[in-house]
Formats: sequence, C-alpha cells, structure tokens
Amino acid sequence: MGQGDWNMTMLSEEVLAGRVGPVLSDGVALGDLIDLDRREVAFRVLSDPEIHRLELSRIWARSWVGVGHVAEIPNPGDFMLRHIGEDPVIVTRDREGALQILLNVCAHRGMEICWADEGNQSQFKCPYHGWVFDNAGNLLGAPFEHEMYGDWDKSQYGLRTAKVAQYHGRIFGNFDPNAMPLDEWLGDAAWYLDRAFPKGDPEWENLMSPRRWVVHANWKTSADNNSGDMYHGSSLHKSISELGPSFVSKEYAESPAVVEGLKVSTAMGHGIVGFNFGAMSGTKKYGDPDYYDLDGYTFACMVFPATFGIGSSWNQVVGEADGMPMVIAQNGALAPRGPGKFEMWTSSAVDKRVPVEMREMFTKPGLLDLAGVDDTEGWPSIQRTTSGGVANSETMKYNVRREPSPHLVGPDPVSSIRR
Ligand code: FES
Ligand SMILES: [Fe+2]
Repeated sequence: MGQGDWNMTMLSEEVLAGRVGPVLSDGVALGDLIDLDRREVAFRVLSDPEIHRLELSRIWARSWVGVGHVAEIPNPGDFMLRHIGEDPVIVTRDREGALQILLNVCAHRGMEICWADEGNQSQFKCPYHGWVFDNAGNLLGAPFEHEMYGDWDKSQYGLRTAKVAQYHGRIFGNFDPNAMPLDEWLGDAAWYLDRAFPKGDPEWENLMSPRRWVVHANWKTSADNNSGDMYHGSSLHKSISELGPSFVSKEYAESPAVVEGLKVSTAMGHGIVGFNFGAMSGTKKYGDPDYYDLDGYTFACMVFPATFGIGSSWNQVVGEADGMPMVIAQNGALAPRGPGKFEMWTSSAVDKRVPVEMREMFTKPGLLDLAGVDDTEGWPSIQRTTSGGVANSETMKYNVRREPSPHLVGPDPVSSIRR
C-alpha cells in the first residue's frame, strides 16, 4: 500500500476482516493476530519489535497526530518540541505567523537541530557542523559554504516538513504529503467532537508548560484505554471515589437513576466514550446541556492514533462571560519510544477571560492527575506480562455485550451499557 491510500472505510471492521496484512518474519500474518469473531487480540501486538517498526512507517508517518495547542505558540518565532510517532518535530510559527511543523533532524547528517523544549527563534543552527535553517525549514547557509559546496542549490537541502491543520485550537501534523484533509480524517468522529466542544471558540491563552510522562508500556494500551475503556474506572480508579470528592455525588450513587456508558467506534479508528452521570456533583459543569449539545453526556474522544484531550470531559467550563461559557481545555497525545515505552504529554489552554483565581485551581494536581497515576502504574503491568513465554500467547478480550443507545443518535455504531 502506497502513500495516500487511506480512505474512509479502510479501517471499518468489514474491510479489516478481509485483510491478511503483512506477514511477519516467522510466517505469522498480522491479520491472524486479531480474531474478529471472538473479538480477541493477541498480546504479541504489544511487544513485537517487527510490528512496532511497521506501525512507525504505516501508521505514524501517515496519520494526523496532535502536537499541541495554538495557545502554546502565539507569536511568530515561538516554538516547542514534540513528536509525531518517534520522529522529533519542531512545532513553530514562521515570520508570517503561519504554523509550521519541521522534522527536528538535520538535513546534513541527522543531528537534532533544536535541543530546547520551547522558546522563540527565527533560525535554528545545528550544533554538529553548523548548518542554519529558518523556521519554515529552508536552509539559509552553512559554515565555509562556498569552500565546502561551491555554487549549490540550497533549496534542495531544507528540513522535512509536515502538513499542518487545526481543530478547535488543537494543532495536528501529518508527514504524508498526500494526506487527506484533517476534516476527512476525523470523519464521523467530527459529529461527536463538534457537539463535545462548548459553543463558540474562545481566544485562547496558554496556562502552563506541558506535563510529560514516560510510561513503560506499549502506546496502544494507552490509546485503547483513552478511546474506549470506561470499564476500568470502577476498579482501578476506585480509590479516587474513596478519597472523595467524587465525580459522582453520594445521592446519585445511591439513586436508582439510569447511568449509561456509550462507546462509539468510527471507520478511521477513532474512539468516543460517553457517560451520562445524571446528577453530577458540585462544581463540575461538563456535560451540562446548556453548554454542550449532548443531552447530559460527558465525552472523551481519542483521535486515532494518538490524540486525546478532546471532548467535554477534557474541557472544563468554569463560568460564563457575556452569556458564553468560559473554558479551560486540556490537550494531549502519545508518542511511542519502542514497543515497550511511550511518552504522554498534556497541556492546558484557557479562555482569556477566565479570572486568575480560577486558573490557579487548574495548575494544581487534580482528580485527572490521580487517575493518570493509577493508569500509568497499571499499564506497565500489562507490558511486563507480555514477555512471558506462556503469557505472550494469551489474548486481550473485547467481547463486551453491546446494545445501541436509545438516547443519543449519531453516526457509526454506538454501543451502550446501562445500569
Ligand atoms: S549534522 Fe547538522 S550540520 Fe552536520
Ligand atoms: Fe483511567
């Protein structure tokens, strides 16, 4: 399959069922590691270096991946370092203020040209031999240029650049020059995403530098969790409700009200999970139908393969100004570091009108951070088990009972579980 061959139905179950996929060096076809009838996936996909290398070229080099928020780099020359897959990138604004994503790999011999996490620069000079690039990736010059290279065409020696697109302030990059537009990539997920954002897009301001975690687990364990696993909340995160305050009020926990969990899987592999908590406790307003057109659902979305922090549960409405909700939004993405490790970052952007006192609340560790600790302790346990000679022939089970939601009507299969 060549570059640009993605299409809307490519990742649908029917298409996947007919695909054998690449054959690994021991003769096992990738398709045989996924049993669609039993809904099971072999542990091998979490630890095999060969599968990981395939993922880097076939998924990460060709997908739209979240790399930050416009509020993090508001001015021409502002930059920050991120990753698309395992490729290091400089996300920056050029002289005209246009967003640029440059491969942070020197065109000369491959050294990282930028070593600072963030800053403001109009040029980047590689430490190794001193080639200099502008913030659109063009080679400007090199030491002893004339003596070394004579009359050379510098336009041939620029940095690789990625396509750039934005979605409600989130910046996405894609190294495939033939990539479909981001809107098309989002496909049916956009129906949910658009409803999971508060109405209107505010003027954004960056709240804090990103938090980063390196987790000793396969990136897909986290992607799977973020795109569909509501089930673990009542077990792995039980200590949060025991500590109180809880996401769910005591009255609600004891009420016979219906609580519904939704799961939506779209053709491109995006996952949306929703929870209708009914009577939410205290101050939280996410899911409030005054702000979100979602009938009381709290939503979290994972844009395949790596971008989370999209959805009402990541957008905290902290008040109202001029009749419009004021929002603090979190953004995040995953980046693999080999099959057994990944980095996860989150940053926060804030509606400019949000008062200082309210911002402070969000710079301190909160419930989501506690949940993050539970998850990042738990996922490495799965990774440890995959290396056992017996355990590595086991499978992950996705055989959950499904029934469509009678409430929320949207595109693609919606499964729901109600209490
Ligand atoms: S590797 Fe960058 S100038 Fe040589
Ligand atoms: Fe979790």
